[in-house]
Amino acid sequence: MPRSYKFAIAAGLVVGILAMQLVPVRIANPPSRGDVAAPPEVEQTLRRSCYDCHSNQTQWPWYTRIAPLSWLVAHDVNAGRRQINFSQWSDYFPATRARKLKWMDRALRGEAMPPWPYRAMHPSSRLGPADRDRLQRWIAAELAADESGR
Ligand code: HEC
Repeated sequence: MPRSYKFAIAAGLVVGILAMQLVPVRIANPPSRGDVAAPPEVEQTLRRSCYDCHSNQTQWPWYTRIAPLSWLVAHDVNAGRRQINFSQWSDYFPATRARKLKWMDRALRGEAMPPWPYRAMHPSSRLGPADRDRLQRWIAAELAADESGR
């Protein structure tokens, strides 16, 4: 390939990546309105493994602000918050909360959460059997409390 072509392709890539940075991305942490009230160990696990996508306290390291990765991360955070937001936990109706707790139990059983690309990038978010067990016991206790009309 002639050198001028290689240069044109490289210049095109640089311009393309720069242009990507101009696409607006919603990277924001709205205020928390009713954070989940769980025993400290449970809360720590949720913060360590789930809060980046399921709370308004997302950590946004510098690389999450660079397109195209920023698009993927913002999409995950928005989709994750829509399903479960631990920063609005006490605002949910009891029936909504119960449904979300059951989803969590299912996701933990299937080892579906946190999603594997995130686990790969954040090894400290991985849940061991003891972490999962603790979360599942908390879920069961919450469901029992909700049913007894707390
Ligand atoms: C990297 C971001 C990320 C992290 C971290 C994360 N999730 Fe999610 N989670 C998502 C996204 C995105 C969705 C929405 C998926 C969809 O809409 O298809 C979701 C959906 C869910 C759902 C509901 C839908 C379902 O498939 O059951 C549950 C339950 C859930 N997450 C639990 C958790 C728990 C518990 C943790 C921590 C142990 C966690 N997630 C950590 C991104 C994340």
